[in-house]
Amino acid sequence: MQNPAKVRGIFTAIAARYDLANHVLSGGLDFLWRARAVRMVKAWRPRTILDLATGSGDLALALGKALPEARIVGADFCHPMLQVAAGKGLHPLVVADGTRLPFADASFDAVTVAFGLRNMESWPGALREMSRVLRPDGHLLVLDFSLPRPPLAFAYRFYLHRVLPRVAGMITGNRAGYEYLGASIEAFPSGRAMCELMQQNNLRDALTRPLAAGIVSIYTARK
Ligand SMILES: C[S@@+](CC[C@H](N)C(=O)[O-])C[C@H]1O[C@@H](n2cnc3c(N)ncnc32)[C@H](O)[C@@H]1O
Repeated sequence: MQNPAKVRGIFTAIAARYDLANHVLSGGLDFLWRARAVRMVKAWRPRTILDLATGSGDLALALGKALPEARIVGADFCHPMLQVAAGKGLHPLVVADGTRLPFADASFDAVTVAFGLRNMESWPGALREMSRVLRPDGHLLVLDFSLPRPPLAFAYRFYLHRVLPRVAGMITGNRAGYEYLGASIEAFPSGRAMCELMQQNNLRDALTRPLAAGIVSIYTARK
């Protein structure tokens, strides 16, 4: 559960250098994680997709390439991040808070959210909103950071809390934003705990798939 004003402030400050920081800090793995998410969504053959917390738009753009017939709406509550997405040609874009979506019930076949849910004020509230805008039987995909198991967890925590904020601070000029990242990953439910949270908030058939030794996970569920 995060403070929305603080989160919006961080993404406003780093918007222009967000993509570069992402690719450097993940060692390019973010492309593979997104590609995996796209393959899963493609198999559902959705005609309408909401990419929530779309940010600079990379997941929505990759979905658009894989599913050229689908209508894909990108939504985010940080206008400067959406400006980056618009600069890459993504549209339509909607300024919207994930916990109060300006869409009718059952408007989308699929909802995706990459590295976004963790930053929201209420994880249960956001999951219920995503379920509300999904059509019955529609699919949700959440891609987000998780923590690997020991012994890798020790090395990963060192990277997350000691190395990453310094490197990201040099790239974006905003070290505090990346200290927040580590804290938010520690607080965010992962694995079974995330599946349970989904099941408790109007979603069913929740599954978790750890990627990159558990540094990130893809969660799927249905309305
Ligand atoms: C780490 S970025 C992820 C962007 C993109 N999905 C990606 O994978 O690169 C997190 C995004 O979530 C957005 N965000 C955070 N809280 C939000 C909320 N409550 N409603 C909508 N967007 C939110 C931020 O503005 C930011 O653009």
